[in-house]
Amino acid sequence: MNKLVKAMLHNKNIVLGVCGGIAAYKACELTSRLKKQDANIDVIMTKSAAEFVTQLTFQSLSLNQVITDMFDKPKHWEIEHISLAKKADIIVIAPATANVIGKLANGIADDMLTTTVMASKAIKLIAPAMNTNMYENVVVQRNIETLKQLGYYFIEPSEGRLACGDIGKGKMAEPELIETKIKELLLKPQDLEGKTVLVTAGPTIEALDPVRFITNHSTGKMGFAIAEKAVSRGAKVHLVSGPSNLPTPYGVERHDVESALDMYDAVMKLMEKADIIIKSAAVADYRIAEVSSEKIKKSEEEFVIKLKKNPDILQELGKIKGSKVLIGFAMETQNLIENAKTKVAKKNLDFIVANNLKTEGAGFAADTNVVKIIDKSGNVEDIPLMKKSDLADIILDKAISINK
Ligand code: C5P
Repeated sequence: MNKLVKAMLHNKNIVLGVCGGIAAYKACELTSRLKKQDANIDVIMTKSAAEFVTQLTFQSLSLNQVITDMFDKPKHWEIEHISLAKKADIIVIAPATANVIGKLANGIADDMLTTTVMASKAIKLIAPAMNTNMYENVVVQRNIETLKQLGYYFIEPSEGRLACGDIGKGKMAEPELIETKIKELLLKPQDLEGKTVLVTAGPTIEALDPVRFITNHSTGKMGFAIAEKAVSRGAKVHLVSGPSNLPTPYGVERHDVESALDMYDAVMKLMEKADIIIKSAAVADYRIAEVSSEKIKKSEEEFVIKLKKNPDILQELGKIKGSKVLIGFAMETQNLIENAKTKVAKKNLDFIVANNLKTEGAGFAADTNVVKIIDKSGNVEDIPLMKKSDLADIILDKAISINK
């Protein structure tokens, strides 16, 4: 995404909602930054925002009229909020208070800002700023989750000393970061438009009886990040997921499965339409040979479980992939490159994303990963420690370069 930092927001219509909070002063800097990028900015201030910063400040920075309260102009507000809602390429709320987040999550539109947001189909980006306890409040978190599910983007507050003297999470993200995120959302390439991407994620669980199962530590984070990024780049995305607590990324079609055999069935049904298949799931290699229909009672000192090999979904896909791009994942604890190269050949992959469970920052529950990408010609690309979401973009870039 760094390419985007230098890109301009020329002629983009940005509606900036400013709520009441001391971080409102940072919204002035944000306005100034965006204006320098040639964007057209319409600022809407809530009543309480106007207590912190004046209308004139935003007017001078945006060179546009600033709207403070819809009831100031009873004749025009209705037209105005609709016209702004329609014209906006993105609506950014920075700072966003718990109050406004709560209203949006619950369908309350009682001022110019909330009515505009609700009437708009534009991209929405929210930068919360509030006291730590308030931010961590379950109701606020639930409202944020609701909005994320509805496709709102969030830029997390940072930790630090807050205006109230408390130390913790709640400081609005810096204007520079918000600017970068706006660019990412407005200027990102739709290079997967018209493509279908099939992603698998999470663990599988293999039942022993109606009560017990065997599984692994996979959380699904990598696959969910890939699915989310693929949608944001314009793809139609099917996500076949083993049991995972992660929320479904907006726009992704999720297919929940439990066992490797379930995953096999789901993947085989969906693979035909896919242009790119990314198998990041940690599929169990074995299942219980005989699943008991009743709970197994404890009796003997030793209890032996017989396992049976599961189909290797990826290998089966490799046999029939044709011109589809097929990408595997490999998690190793030793001989990473050698083992990964063998898998690329054996499973007929375009490339494999391999990580060593013992490397710091890599692995199951982390938000980061450190990997090597090994392609079918044997090239090894070292990818340093980075967020799984950034790695998702790199994997998609590489997939697109193959699927031209
Ligand atoms: O051979 P190994 O299990 O290490 O290969 C990992 C890759 O193969 C992953 O992409 C995983 O999703 C896939 N896999 C599969 N079916 C299995 C086992 C692994 O699709 N039964």
